[in-house]
Amino acid sequence: MESMNAPASRPLTVRSATTPLSGSVAVPGDKSISHRALMFAALARGETGITGLLEGEDVLRTAAAMRALGATVTRVAPGTWQVTGQGLGALQEPDDVLDMGNSGTAARLLSGILASHGIFSVMTGDGSLRGRPMKRVIDPLSATGARFTARSGGRLPLAIEGVADPAPLSYRLPVASAQVKSAVLLAGLNAAGTTRVEEPVATRDHTENMLRHFGAEVSVASLGAGGRVITLTGRPELVARDVAVPGDPSSAAFVLAAALLVPGSSVTVRGVGLNPLRTGLFTTLREMGADLRLSNERVEGGEPVGDLTAVAGPLHGVDVPAERAPSMIDEYPILAVVAAHATGPSRFRGLEELRVKESDRLSATVALLQRNGVSVDVVGDDMLVTGTGGAVPGGGLVETRMDHRLAMSATVLGLVAAQPVQVDDTAFIDTSFPGFIALMNSIGAGLAA
Ligand code: S3P
Repeated sequence: MESMNAPASRPLTVRSATTPLSGSVAVPGDKSISHRALMFAALARGETGITGLLEGEDVLRTAAAMRALGATVTRVAPGTWQVTGQGLGALQEPDDVLDMGNSGTAARLLSGILASHGIFSVMTGDGSLRGRPMKRVIDPLSATGARFTARSGGRLPLAIEGVADPAPLSYRLPVASAQVKSAVLLAGLNAAGTTRVEEPVATRDHTENMLRHFGAEVSVASLGAGGRVITLTGRPELVARDVAVPGDPSSAAFVLAAALLVPGSSVTVRGVGLNPLRTGLFTTLREMGADLRLSNERVEGGEPVGDLTAVAGPLHGVDVPAERAPSMIDEYPILAVVAAHATGPSRFRGLEELRVKESDRLSATVALLQRNGVSVDVVGDDMLVTGTGGAVPGGGLVETRMDHRLAMSATVLGLVAAQPVQVDDTAFIDTSFPGFIALMNSIGAGLAA
């Protein structure tokens, strides 16, 4: 089922940490912002410099796709890239299939771009991505006039006959998804007139922020009850602007969680992106009693950034409301690990979207904990974890299902479990956090590389 160039599997046995974790580290650049920086730079006229770009597999797929569409994309130094675009509407037809690897964000966002250019394209991905729903973008984007042909269930490979003069869309999101919102907005860039997206719950707003940064007119109004309406004026003059990518809070989460759990630890992660629509996990950890200190707060490249220090200590269970889910949607597997170690029960509400991530993360997270002796249940769309009060049995084999975040969560669990935890494959960690194992070892995790 895997694509031809799927990475070779890399199993790992994780033993309990024997010493506290300590040190000060920086995590790789934000994945969401990195994808967008490459895409928007390719759509803008002129040369954009990007620093701090995540050089994970997912983002490298986006870089390759933008190159295949005619942009000049060059790696100048580690994390430093240059992209030269020809301006909106000027993308070229790719001469081969675009392989988006493991990346749902790349596939969904690119669909909006491809639909709104007069070119034919075909997208595919690895076994995980080929199983993920694309209908959520095909449905709204079809109203531009573009034509989509997909496999049954709206799955990749997907053929797109784009249109040079797309109709502007007005769409209310049926699911809380920044990817769908972004696909609609990106299709609106090359449409004459106003594109409008309503989201019943606010989701990460990197697309809105970065479009403004590149010169587009984007306005955001409150819909009440946490919702928003976003309007974009079509056919803006997108002009190249440099982008500084902050550290990914979703990657920092694993390092900080490990530091909170391994007794005696104190670890600082520098330069973490703190966009309020991404920081639900940090709020939740504090509610659990975590000693999580913020310092050196600043704004870099239009996004709030700071240094976070996690100090190990006792944690208790937590009840996380459904409204918070979009601001921490990628963090539930690691939160479940933290809750398994904490004292008392935890409940995470409204997790339906977890079923359609790189894996069905709801069932995969349940399996991860159950295999390691932790009691966990799913009731409707809620996950219930019974905390062990620092006594996770471990000893299980975790199937990571081509999902980077499960592999990292299982690794953190192993650092505090009584018996070694086996992780079937850590290769997919490279999609979002290349160097994870080396970084964890630099703070004292003692993982066998
Ligand atoms: C992302 C949005 C989220 C998130 C993903 C990145 C983005 O997906 O899970 O890792 O960059 O827009 P959904 O929009 O499907 O919730």
